[in-house]
Amino acid sequence: MKIFHLAVVCSLIFAVSAEAGEGLISVHYPPKEGTIMEYGILGISLGVPDGSAGEVRITAGKGGTRSIAVRGEFICFTVPLEPGLNNIEIAALKEKTVVDRVVLSVFRRSDLISKYRVPPQGFKKTYFHAADRAACTKCHALEPGLFDRKPVSPATFPADAFDSVTVIAATSTCYSCHKALTAYPYVHGPASVWSCLSCHDPESAPPYSVKKPDSVVCYGCHVEQENRWVSMKYHHGPVTTGKCTICHSPHASENPFNLFKPTWQLCVNCHPEKGTGKHVIAESSSAEGHPTRNRKDPVRTGRDLTCASCHDPHASDSPHLWAFKAEGAPELCRKCHYDK
Ligand code: HEC
Ligand code: HEC
Ligand code: HEC
Ligand code: HEC
Ligand code: HEC
Ligand code: HEC
Ligand code: HEC
Ligand code: HEC
Repeated sequence: MKIFHLAVVCSLIFAVSAEAGEGLISVHYPPKEGTIMEYGILGISLGVPDGSAGEVRITAGKGGTRSIAVRGEFICFTVPLEPGLNNIEIAALKEKTVVDRVVLSVFRRSDLISKYRVPPQGFKKTYFHAADRAACTKCHALEPGLFDRKPVSPATFPADAFDSVTVIAATSTCYSCHKALTAYPYVHGPASVWSCLSCHDPESAPPYSVKKPDSVVCYGCHVEQENRWVSMKYHHGPVTTGKCTICHSPHASENPFNLFKPTWQLCVNCHPEKGTGKHVIAESSSAEGHPTRNRKDPVRTGRDLTCASCHDPHASDSPHLWAFKAEGAPELCRKCHYDK
């Protein structure tokens, strides 16, 4: 694939350090000391001295093992990260023999999974864009341009967005290094059109920081939701803290609404006792309790029954965050059980 900004100069000689004891592989990013990441993609750039290896083999947990042929002195790729500790093994091979090996330790932090909330000792957050990356700008552009500042609004999306992936690849400064970030089935509007700067401020310190709490950023565009939810009587715990990204990826994910887990699993992650099936009609004679999944939602046609069939994940005017206007349980039941 052709990348617009890449002016690849094959004959460039870089100071690829292969000092005694340091080995052949020099990792430009990330640092060897443990790094902390928030989400599931890590970009890696490394080099091996000319002629010292023909192939680099990468083993990264569920990402499996993969080989990259060595062409030139910069080898760039991404690996998927699982929540918690990830050990990424990188081996350099010459004629099928391993000539050097490094292991990078990266901790993917997670607010959703409490055991991964706090990184282990010795792990530090590193900021790629806070340092001078002259070595990278030999081939990649790093300064954002006009395109990157294109605004996006949920009200007019996708009419005001770009319809061609080719155009995005050619015009986004961020795409050449971060393209894996949006390679999921569900991509958030602004991320899908590479309007990265609508949330990441290039003038902040460290560069590209996002304002906290999330709700400040999210409501900047989701005005309709803010108006709908803020005036309501009851608010869901995690929404009250303003941490929208505890449940939603700001970029992309495997699940509708860019959720980190499918709705049912997401809810049960924090409310495990509701995953047992003994919910809603626990006191009744039914041994099974009320179904909360694997049925059709009788109200939201075309969708499956889930926790969000009865509860609004954000806010509500009814008790227990019911997704319907209802004073008490019987009124709620009647929304789906017309005969009762
Ligand atoms: C010699 C040219 C060159 C240099 C120097 C270079 N890159 Fe790259 N990089 C590339 C090319 C070419 C690609 C696109 C590869 C592709 O499309 O699979 C790329 C892609 C990437 C990717 C995305 C990989 C993927 O699979 O999505 C990352 C991350 C990256 N580079 C980081 C860096 C960093 C960090 C530096 C500086 C330490 C750097 N690059 C320096 C040529 C270079
Ligand atoms: C030369 C490749 C390259 C380009 C171009 C690039 N990035 Fe990055 N960026 C990286 C790497 C490598 C990291 C380290 C962590 C990772 O892989 O996400 C990173 C990290 C980040 C982070 C986390 C904070 C930090 O500094 O570590 C943000 C936010 C970010 N990039 C946004 C952007 C945006 C927005 C653009 C476009 C204006 C962009 N990047 C362009 C390579 C690049
Ligand atoms: C809707 C807002 C939003 C948009 C749009 C957005 N981001 Fe982010 N991004 C965030 C938030 C929030 C974080 C988490 C920051 C933190 O916790 O410090 C983040 C984190 C990151 C990180 C660090 C990931 C990690 O694992 O630590 C990178 C890299 C990044 N964004 C790149 C991009 C790129 C490239 C784009 C454009 C395709 C983009 N972002 C678009 C909100 C956004
Ligand atoms: C720059 C404007 C912008 C910002 C900031 C923004 N969004 Fe969005 N969001 C959009 C657009 C555009 C869409 C796509 C609307 C569509 O598909 O019709 C969207 C869609 C969504 C959807 C899917 C809605 C649906 O019905 O499928 C969710 C969920 C979402 N955003 C959450 C967030 C969260 C959480 C944040 C803060 C981290 C955020 N957004 C920040 C513009 C934004
Ligand atoms: C506890 C997890 C959780 C938190 C926190 C959360 N959401 Fe959601 N959100 C969901 C779920 C689940 C859905 C899908 C509901 C469904 O299936 O109908 C959703 C749907 C949405 C939608 C599309 C549907 C709609 O009602 O407009 C938007 C937009 C959205 N969320 C934005 C946000 C914003 C902005 C925040 C922060 C203020 C936030 N969310 C916080 C779980 C959450
Ligand atoms: C990140 C953790 C987290 C996630 C994910 C989460 N919740 Fe909650 N939930 C909370 C917290 C914290 C409270 C407040 C606890 C309290 O006040 O006792 C709460 C309270 C509730 C309440 C009680 C409201 C009341 O007043 O009785 C309901 C109902 C609820 N959540 C439903 C859901 C549903 C449905 C989902 C999935 C869409 C979900 N939760 C996902 C953390 C979470
Ligand atoms: C068929 C509708 C329905 C479904 C589906 C449903 N709930 Fe409820 N939920 C209720 C009702 C009604 C209440 C009020 C208390 C009661 O009757 O048990 C409630 C109360 C709650 C409460 C707060 C009170 C308490 O008992 O702690 C939480 C938290 C909750 N539900 C979470 C969930 C989660 C998580 C799921 C998905 C696994 C879910 N609910 C699925 C109807 C539903
Ligand atoms: C969002 C819609 C919805 C709401 C609200 C709702 N239910 Fe249900 N209920 C269902 C669905 C779907 C089924 C499964 C029907 C099927 O299997 O054909 C079900 C099944 C049942 C069953 C049979 C359980 C079984 O084991 O087959 C009972 C009893 C029941 N509901 C009682 C209630 C009561 C009591 C309430 C109010 C507290 C209520 N429901 C609220 C959707 C709902």
